[in-house]
Amino acid sequence: MKIDFANLKESHKAHQEEIEEAVLRVCRNANYIMGSEVESLEQELAIFAKSKYAITCSSGSSALLLALMALSLKAGDEVITTPFTFIATAEMIALLGIKPIFVDISLEDYNINCDLIEDAITPKTKAVLAVSLYGQPPNLEKLGSICAKRNLKLILDGAQSFGSEFQQKKDSTFGAIATTSFFPAKPLGCYGDGGAVFTQEESFAQKIRSLRLHGEKERYVHQYIGIGGRLDALQAVILRIKLRSFGNDIVRRNQVANMYNEYLKNANVILPQVLEGRKSVFAQYTIRTKNRKTIQECLNQHGIPSAVHYPLGLHLQECFAYLGHKKGDFPNTELASDEVLSLPMNPYLKESEIRQIAEVILDAK
Ligand SMILES: Cc1ncc(COP(=O)(O)O)c(C=O)c1O
Repeated sequence: MKIDFANLKESHKAHQEEIEEAVLRVCRNANYIMGSEVESLEQELAIFAKSKYAITCSSGSSALLLALMALSLKAGDEVITTPFTFIATAEMIALLGIKPIFVDISLEDYNINCDLIEDAITPKTKAVLAVSLYGQPPNLEKLGSICAKRNLKLILDGAQSFGSEFQQKKDSTFGAIATTSFFPAKPLGCYGDGGAVFTQEESFAQKIRSLRLHGEKERYVHQYIGIGGRLDALQAVILRIKLRSFGNDIVRRNQVANMYNEYLKNANVILPQVLEGRKSVFAQYTIRTKNRKTIQECLNQHGIPSAVHYPLGLHLQECFAYLGHKKGDFPNTELASDEVLSLPMNPYLKESEIRQIAEVILDAK
């Protein structure tokens, strides 16, 4: 049996009957965009995320765009963020004409290094957009106090961390606005694109609801320049079903991570750490090794998939050349991009498979 990276087929099998029935119901009802299924999902997401407001949207990228727009951030402003993330984080900042100001990461959790943030603040800085990479929140206490002290808005890109916690509080409750993605391979994934925005403030919630519908105030009356960022009912019914057992998936992902930690404890690799006071949802189980190429080749030879999240810091991406960065600007990001390796991670991984993956890594020469 081939080992699967995210094992979406097994995830479908776990809910097959219910999901296929629900999808058929949506097809026959012909109410495809927004509607009651989306509304029910939003209520259930808000309960799960312990957030006052949960507003669904068309992807994790549009969730970020909606968050930035709802905070009235605009061209000429600066937003501090991490260069070690999926492109969408900084891309959505730049898409609005805002300047992304990169701050290097900490190698403990691969998230933005809070101790470097204050030096990057200028009179144009309006917000910090932090990411919970691989499923683990950054130090939200420190981020919150820096932002409060310097009068900046905190946005949390929780695309990889829905359900995670910082000091026993869900990450979606931190900051002015938090976002997530329901891309199929995310811990809670739908069967297409989807995302959500979380906030505790009614005024932001109202604005986000309007912005995702082209800035509509009422039908064909537009208050803001917005986007077409709605979620569809097919994704909503699927998410509603998967959400019911999502808590178990998180427990299982943590068990898988613990098994990896145990089987890899004697390997010459750096294991992921969950820092004190944090709960990760292990969107990825990512190790660090100077031997990445060899390990990846050995895994490949055994039919074991692996991935690099992410091979190039955003400061070195061609699309951000205009920011004028060069190699060496963010040493931890560059080290991580050279050495990280994500191993198969999903709730369905068996102990025997984890042992097999670990043995290949221990034997890799
Ligand atoms: C950190 C991060 N931000 C944003 C996104 C964008 O989410 P989506 O693919 O749903 O647009 C992703 C998804 O891969 C992500 O990992």
